[in-house]
Amino acid sequence: MTKTTVRRKATQNDIADVTRLQRDIDVQVSCENNLKFMRRLPDESMKLIVTSPPYNIGKEYEKRRSHEVYIEEQVACIAEAARLLHPTGSICWQVGNHVHNGEIFPLDILLYPIFKQLGLQLRNRIVWTFGHGLHCQKRFSGRHETILWFTKSEDYTFNLDPVRVPSKYPNKKHFKGPNKGEISGNPLGKNPSDIWDIPNVKSNHVEKTDHPCQFPVALVERLVLSLTNPGDSVLDPYLGVGSSAIAALKHERNAFGCDLEKRYVDIAWERIHDLRAGRLRTRPMNKPVYEPSVKESK
Ligand SMILES: C[S@@+](CC[C@H](N)C(=O)[O-])C[C@H]1O[C@@H](n2cnc3c(N)ncnc32)[C@H](O)[C@@H]1O
Repeated sequence: MTKTTVRRKATQNDIADVTRLQRDIDVQVSCENNLKFMRRLPDESMKLIVTSPPYNIGKEYEKRRSHEVYIEEQVACIAEAARLLHPTGSICWQVGNHVHNGEIFPLDILLYPIFKQLGLQLRNRIVWTFGHGLHCQKRFSGRHETILWFTKSEDYTFNLDPVRVPSKYPNKKHFKGPNKGEISGNPLGKNPSDIWDIPNVKSNHVEKTDHPCQFPVALVERLVLSLTNPGDSVLDPYLGVGSSAIAALKHERNAFGCDLEKRYVDIAWERIHDLRAGRLRTRPMNKPVYEPSVKESK
């Protein structure tokens, strides 16, 4: 007897199912609450947990809640992150200010004790500076946020060479001693320091999507390259449109992440597919920041 296959036309639901894919070979990205997502992952499985949580300032993806509730949510997520962290791994929590009635509350100061109580050790408080943002009328316009970089132990992965930046004076030589006359700096460049000037993603940035607060991929790339090795796993529990996943996959790491909003998760998958197809545009990691020339006044 011959078997007849009945082919039916793809419906909208089938198409939605395709974009709702949750994993493939080196990615697990899903639309769900981060505690639910993280609780399924094994202990000590993540080499880098890098994220930017909501700041409780009423952005389109969050509801303003009391300070106590916000901190409780952060405690739960950070505790789960500490459980997932590999013994030689790192947690990087990127935050700015909570703002209430014109008063600012720096989130790194508020969250630091949570990490300390979990026994984590602070390696750097990286200052991320950028050129664009709101123009404030009653205080100086905010042009920096911070990244708290913690490790679980004293034995942690730190690769400086892949993230060195060009030295200011590459031909500078030792002027005395046994190496007199030889180049004094590292030929691969210098340590990028704990102040990172990387343009934030505003309307004319090549990476801009519909998300109001995306990471520039270059910011995460620097963390991925320095704090993990190829084949390691990188998790972002507040994934948004997947910038951390893109940074991880660009450098042969495995990417994990989740977000509550389906429209962001769909964009994240689209970006992942574009990266694999070689058509995702990202701003190069060490591209110098554009400086408008200052015309001297007469
Ligand atoms: C500051 S944004 C992160 C943006 C991300 N860094 C990017 O490059 O797109 C915070 C994200 O957390 C998501 N979010 C808020 N609460 C969450 C939760 N409990 N679980 C998962 N995602 C959550 C929001 O939908 C929002 O997209």
